Amino acid sequence: PETELESHFERTIERDQRIEPRDWAPEGYRKTMVRQIAQHAHSEIIGMQPEGNWITRAPSLRRKAILLAKVQDEAGHGLYLYSAAETLGVDRADLTEKLISGRQKYSSIFNYPTLTFADVGVIGWLVDGAAICNQVPLCRSSYGPYARAMVRICKEESFHQRQGYELLMTMMRGTGQQREMVQEAVDRWWWPSLMMFGPPDADSPNTAQSMAWKVKRHTNDELRQRFVDMSVPQAEALGVTFPDPDLAWNADRGHYDFGAVDWAEFKNVLQGNGPCNAQRIARRRRAHDEGAWVREAAAAHAAKNQEATA
Ligand code: ACO
Repeated sequence: PETELESHFERTIERDQRIEPRDWAPEGYRKTMVRQIAQHAHSEIIGMQPEGNWITRAPSLRRKAILLAKVQDEAGHGLYLYSAAETLGVDRADLTEKLISGRQKYSSIFNYPTLTFADVGVIGWLVDGAAICNQVPLCRSSYGPYARAMVRICKEESFHQRQGYELLMTMMRGTGQQREMVQEAVDRWWWPSLMMFGPPDADSPNTAQSMAWKVKRHTNDELRQRFVDMSVPQAEALGVTFPDPDLAWNADRGHYDFGAVDWAEFKNVLQGNGPCNAQRIARRRRAHDEGAWVREAAAAHAAKNQEATA
């Protein structure tokens, strides 16, 4: 009976155990997991583009090797996440179709352009830093395949964050022009990085239910605050400032206060009107079309193998 299944599900969540693919779960839970995992996978795949833009122009062989490794990691993350989504009965081809037809979202952050090589460092430091802040708690997310994928992803993201910070430290030890380049990139990426955590709690339709199901372990605003608190001393050590006159330590709260995020800009980017939305999707669509022969060949090969072993 469904009530027994329901109470088993509730108990599993209550005891901090994992929901596994074969377990019964309410339809809403499955839908939430597909939505979040697919969106996360799409973000990893689209996220290859802004940095991929610099692979052919990296300033040294060492920087190029690091950047290549990093962008390949993002592809790997996308693939494990699509696999995690498939445990919920959805099909990867279908998810990709939803991405390129604009029916599923990906992170707002990847709709901003990478104008200089300093952007590679700032993406590592701030964007991957924000991703870690958001994703470390997801290692304890209630859906088993997602939580387990997150463990490896977070380890790789830590490497990405370090390479970004190290790149920026190197540039900050360079010429005045290099230091200006770093500051200018920080100025452009700071606010969009804060938007990565999603809308304020009061305007977040999914947070309450996702917290109750332990899909999310912290609210959007809690994680945004944690990220600000963590980033300020890192900026000081680096010798850059954030473009926010309201950023100040608040001893009563034990946190940094910060200015208002421009949520109109966030909504606009989500609606497809950010600086690079059209370009990102067009490129993903083209890559998908150009890869059709690979998928066909792989399917034909698998069919032949199956025939041979039948
Ligand atoms: N970019 C695009 N869409 C966003 C963003 C963002 N930065 N933040 C929130 N949204 C969307 C939500 O997906 C939701 O839309 P939907 O209902 O159509 O799916 C809507 O805005 C309202 O937001 P919330 O109710 O707060 O949604 P949710 O509870 O899913 O929280 C969050 C959003 C925090 C992003 C959550 O989904 C999450 O933690 N996801 C996993 C991490 C992730 O996807 N990271 C990708 C970027 S990091 C990287 O890849 C390097």
